[in-house]
Amino acid sequence: MAQLSLRGIKKSFRNVDVLHGIDLEIGDREFVVFVGPSGCGKSTLLRLIAGLDPMSGGDFLLNGKRMNDVPPSRRGIAMVFQSYALYPHMDVYENMAFGARLMGLDKAEVEARIAEAARMLRLEPLLLRKPRELSGGQRQRVAIGRALVRKPQVFLLDEPLSNLDAALRSDVRLEIARLHRQIGGTMIYVTHDQVEAMTLADKIVVMNAGRIEQVGSPRDLYETPANTFVATFIGSPRMTLVDVKCEGGRLVLPEGGSVHVGALPQVSELKLGLRSDAVKLDREAGGEGFAGQVVYTEYLGDNAYVYVRLADGTLLAARTGPDDLFEPDHMVTVSVEPGSVHLFSAEDGRRLVP
Ligand SMILES: Nc1ncnc2c1ncn2[C@@H]1O[C@H](COP(=O)(O)OP(=O)(O)O)[C@@H](O)[C@H]1O
Ligand SMILES: [Mg+2]
Repeated sequence: MAQLSLRGIKKSFRNVDVLHGIDLEIGDREFVVFVGPSGCGKSTLLRLIAGLDPMSGGDFLLNGKRMNDVPPSRRGIAMVFQSYALYPHMDVYENMAFGARLMGLDKAEVEARIAEAARMLRLEPLLLRKPRELSGGQRQRVAIGRALVRKPQVFLLDEPLSNLDAALRSDVRLEIARLHRQIGGTMIYVTHDQVEAMTLADKIVVMNAGRIEQVGSPRDLYETPANTFVATFIGSPRMTLVDVKCEGGRLVLPEGGSVHVGALPQVSELKLGLRSDAVKLDREAGGEGFAGQVVYTEYLGDNAYVYVRLADGTLLAARTGPDDLFEPDHMVTVSVEPGSVHLFSAEDGRRLVP
């Protein structure tokens, strides 16, 4: 059982504030992903949870017990680092045994735990190798194995796939998902990659500049992003944001054209958010919608993305069928699916509900 409460957690390095008060609840057995751009404070937060650095403010509770002053070895938390941090002079077996022995486990128990971890992570044939004799993916599995033998209540993983090539990444991603189901512990996984976050998480925590922007399931974040940061961070291609004015029940673009989207909020200026599947392109000029010029088309086999430059310079991505290719420089009319738009405040980027 591992339930975590973060309350007003702050961190400063000298006089630079890096985390500005993080409030978050994490449930038992949850797979939580912290996602956000590089430098937003994800690793810092993970290190505070592990107890590797002192907090500058706030409280961290594990199963209701305040952990602020509990040393890392007594928290029941294991961390897997981006750099693996394996001991180069020890073989795989010794790397996994080291931490378990420090916990004071007897020899038979250490052996049994290593055998189990090696089986789960398919490391059995590699136990006598040194880290330099392993591939990146194998090293990463050893680093995970080393955490596993400690049988922690909470696993922390910091960008575990970032040193692997693309093909291996999806393999190890599946393995981590399987591992979580098998061991049933609470996992906190850090990544800057929204695809990893969307595919692994029960709950995603979107971070930006030391603050939480939104917490929710992958579906919540995709369908109801709380603000323009989350809207453009989650989903590929990026959501297009168009500056519009509310006039006579329609949204009017400054350079001409307008769209009808149903009920509108009581503000005069806003940002219209369009995902690639919310728009249609038409080769005919005029008609409902607004004009744009095709820049290029990405053909992906089962579908294609057409990128269109609007009159105000915005680049819009539209999803089309694989046979529906648009040539560069052609003028098109963009029309909008009324039910599938997002509206945000022009002032502070917050989601607006009509
Ligand atoms: N030990 C440190 N001393 C000073 N600044 C640090 C230290 N560790 C991290 N920072 C700063 O804190 C911010 C967040 O870093 P980090 O948590 O590593 O970001 P992320 O993991 O999201 O990429 C960055 O601006 C980084 O430069
Ligand atoms: Mg980091």
